[in-house]
Parts: sequence; C-alpha cells; structure tokens
Amino acid sequence: MRFHVLTLFPEIIEAPLQASMLGLAQRRGLISVDITDIRTYTHDAHGTADDYQFGGGPGMVMKPEPVTEAVEAALFASASQVSDVPVLIMSPQGQVLDQELVEELASCPEIILVCGHYAGMDERVKQYFNAREVSIGDYVLTGGELPAVVLIDSVSRLVPGVVGSQENVMQDSITSGLLQHPLYTRPAEFRGMGVPEVLLSGHHAEIDRWRRTQSLRRTYQRRPDLLERASLCPGDLDYLESLGYTRDNSAGSPG
Ligand code: ADE
Repeated sequence: MRFHVLTLFPEIIEAPLQASMLGLAQRRGLISVDITDIRTYTHDAHGTADDYQFGGGPGMVMKPEPVTEAVEAALFASASQVSDVPVLIMSPQGQVLDQELVEELASCPEIILVCGHYAGMDERVKQYFNAREVSIGDYVLTGGELPAVVLIDSVSRLVPGVVGSQENVMQDSITSGLLQHPLYTRPAEFRGMGVPEVLLSGHHAEIDRWRRTQSLRRTYQRRPDLLERASLCPGDLDYLESLGYTRDNSAGSPG
C-alpha cells in the first residue's frame, strides 16, 4: 500500500513513521510513504504557501496553487488510475475517522493525504479534486500532520504482514465491536496485586468466557454506544442484561 503525504512540515511526519512496526513495514516493502514538501511548489523566492483570507479574519489560509500542483504531481506519480486514488484532506471539518473508514481506506492501493496547516486551506482545492476531508476527532490540532500519521498507522495495521498476526487484528478492540478485556503479563504478583485466577488456570474455554464478559462489561460501562452495533449472541445479551443493559435504552447511562 502506498501513501503520498503532502505537507508544509515533512519533519513532523518523518520521525514517527520510522519507528517500530511502521518503520519495519516500510523496510519490508509492505507499505511505502512518499512525503512531499508543498513548499517545493510555491511560486516565489520566499516560498510563500499561505495568505490572508478574503473577507478578513484571523489566521492564514494555505494558497491553492502550491497544494494543487503538489496533488497533481502525486497523482502523476501514482501507479493506479488517477481517478481511483482518493485525495484526503486532513481537517477538523471532516468525516471523523473510525474503524469502518479505516477498513474502507485499507482497500485502496494508494491514498493521497493533504495536511492542512494554519487556519486551513483554500476551499477550491477540495472542490477541484473532489477531495474528502477527514478528521481524527472533535478537537483542533495545529495541523493535519499528526492526523495523517494516525490515519497511516491505523490503515497500515490492516495491510497483511504489518502486524504480527492477522488474528490479533481481527480480535482488536473496536474491530470486534467491543472494547478489549484487561491484559496481564508476568509477574503474577506485582506490588500486592495478583492476576485473575482464571487466566492462570489453563482452561481455554473459561479464559475465553472471562475475556468476553470483561469486554462486554467494559464496553457497557465506558462506551455503551458501541453495543448498538456490536454483534452479540444471546449469552452476551443475558450477561449485559444482568448488568442493567437493555437494547432499547442502551444509550442511557450504565450507572
Ligand atoms: N487538523 C487540525 N485538527 C485536526 C483534526 N482533529 N483532524 C484532522 N486534521 C486536523
């Protein structure tokens, strides 16, 4: 899978992508990330990439010409049909990234990510490329660089081979529709705190049952909204009902 990232601040993107699993995935050729400095496409000696906004107001706006030319160059460099490469603009105004969108993006062989900075970018860039805006949550960062890294990380995990075992990915919190159960490792005794007995028992069926009920309980307590879409068997529903959950008013407080 290939990511093209267009930014005025390549250094914000480079470092996090070199470390750990994403670094390894790039070295193994499972993913590639081409980072373009939008300033290369500016038209004056000062490398001016932003300007005052029409209508007045605080904050500078990214000029349309350099961004547009940078996107065109990325489209030109892409191996896919130009019309098949999604152009995404990272922006707090966008569709909020969730696992469903991550899965959709993971099915694309190439993606172009444009990082907004300052107050945002000229609206005509989005219009020209029929681009989609993507937000990583309802808070505002100084730019779209870290959101682009978040998107690359979450999508790359779904590329076969990037994460050790695909089974892990399938059992993920959220992918499975539920939050993850608590995790423990050695030592079995830590500062007076033990590990739930069942995890030391070697009874795999009981361990699975315990994990499932812990996931259900956590999800009910912390994110009852997720239960609406989770696939739940009659046993899960019985357990949740014993905690006070009913499918009709599940959005209510778990108390
Ligand atoms: N740029 C600034 N804040 C952002 C956010 N929450 N998501 C995506 N891009 C952003």
